[in-house]
Amino acid sequence: MAETLPYPELETKETLNVWVLDAGGRGHALGYKLAQAERIGNIVFSPGNGGTEDIGENCAVDFDDSQEIGEFCGEYDIDLAVVGMDRLLANGVVGVIRSHGVAAFGPTQQQARIESDRSYAKDIMKYAGIPTAKYEVFDEYTAAQEHCDSRQLPYVVKANGLADGKGVTICRERGDVSRVLREMMLLDRFGASGDRVIVEEFLVGQEISEHDICSQGIYKTFISAQDHKQLGDGDTGPMTGGMGTIAPVPWFDASQISEAARSSVEPLLDATSFEGLLFTGHMVTTDGPKVVEYNARFGDPETQVFMQRMKSDLLEHLVAAVNGHLYTERIDWHEGYSVCVVAASEGYPDPVMPGQKITGLDSTNEDVTIFHAGTTKQGDEYYSTAGRVLGVTGSGPSIDIARDRAYAVIERLRFDEKKPIFRTDIGKRPSPF
Ligand code: GLY
Repeated sequence: MAETLPYPELETKETLNVWVLDAGGRGHALGYKLAQAERIGNIVFSPGNGGTEDIGENCAVDFDDSQEIGEFCGEYDIDLAVVGMDRLLANGVVGVIRSHGVAAFGPTQQQARIESDRSYAKDIMKYAGIPTAKYEVFDEYTAAQEHCDSRQLPYVVKANGLADGKGVTICRERGDVSRVLREMMLLDRFGASGDRVIVEEFLVGQEISEHDICSQGIYKTFISAQDHKQLGDGDTGPMTGGMGTIAPVPWFDASQISEAARSSVEPLLDATSFEGLLFTGHMVTTDGPKVVEYNARFGDPETQVFMQRMKSDLLEHLVAAVNGHLYTERIDWHEGYSVCVVAASEGYPDPVMPGQKITGLDSTNEDVTIFHAGTTKQGDEYYSTAGRVLGVTGSGPSIDIARDRAYAVIERLRFDEKKPIFRTDIGKRPSPF
């Protein structure tokens, strides 16, 4: 078999050096899990953060410079690259890495459009008969405003391109609509990502995060997860990149997530050649799950809870995906639950003041892992660099125990001697059934 594989050496080498392209908690969580792999060699992170420095080496690389990427892969003898960041995928970094003969797990630039171009994703869903919200697409502010004025509230306005999870607004009042359309289409809040907007039907239900490793039409589905995307308790306040996650979702079991995959992932893989990690956001409605969005990468902070629950060897799953034999793989999961609570800097999701000294990290224990997101390490000390700073991830035999363990640790964290911002209700949503 080995000679026919794209990267036969990955099957037989005793150790594999892995390059994780990520800056956040997702990258730290991937590195944490990869470090447990049987055949792991060196792990290098670009750009990485204060936490990844404790697992491997952080290296700055200019992702726009193909020659530098090639030289870097040679110098560090990289066997496999794992790309986390949506912007890099949208810019085609997977193709660049592969052009240097190095295996990369992730979608090509064209495949990544499923996330970076929402109107393209909606058109594919319509073509493939995938359940999703009804929608209209607008490139012109006046037409968008006139359309919105004529329809009943509530509805959802989305920036077409990437916006760090902040490009979605649920409009419940007329004032919301005018503000969001102006911000996106006239004031360039999200740059070119907001030049086109999607106006969508508002779906009532709870959102579930589905992750599938995809390769050559085969997909392997993870346990279910749920994010808490709004800043405030009770799902109030502005949208963020995600304030906390749970996995698995107690009311969405393996058969339900498989059923959701059959209606959303299978037809997508029939219609496109997507390879990599497909992250589908489903709204679980009274009519069944409907796709809210596709993402072409691991979720953040979903990855933090998945990597605590995954029992099997992530590295071998990724190797099987890049070599096109995913059918040989079975992803196994530990019994129990994980809850990740994000500790953020004051002011998030608006720009924040970096450089706050982080203390309380040593209050963790074997049931709680603190994944670093926006941190940097100086000597033995860690400082904040961004809005989402840490993802405190507790595990246990029930959601309640996992949550209590995470909160016991997050309560002791301090940023410049002040408590971080965090939600107090992660994992407390009641079952919708
Ligand atoms: N947790 C949401 C995202 O990664 O987009």
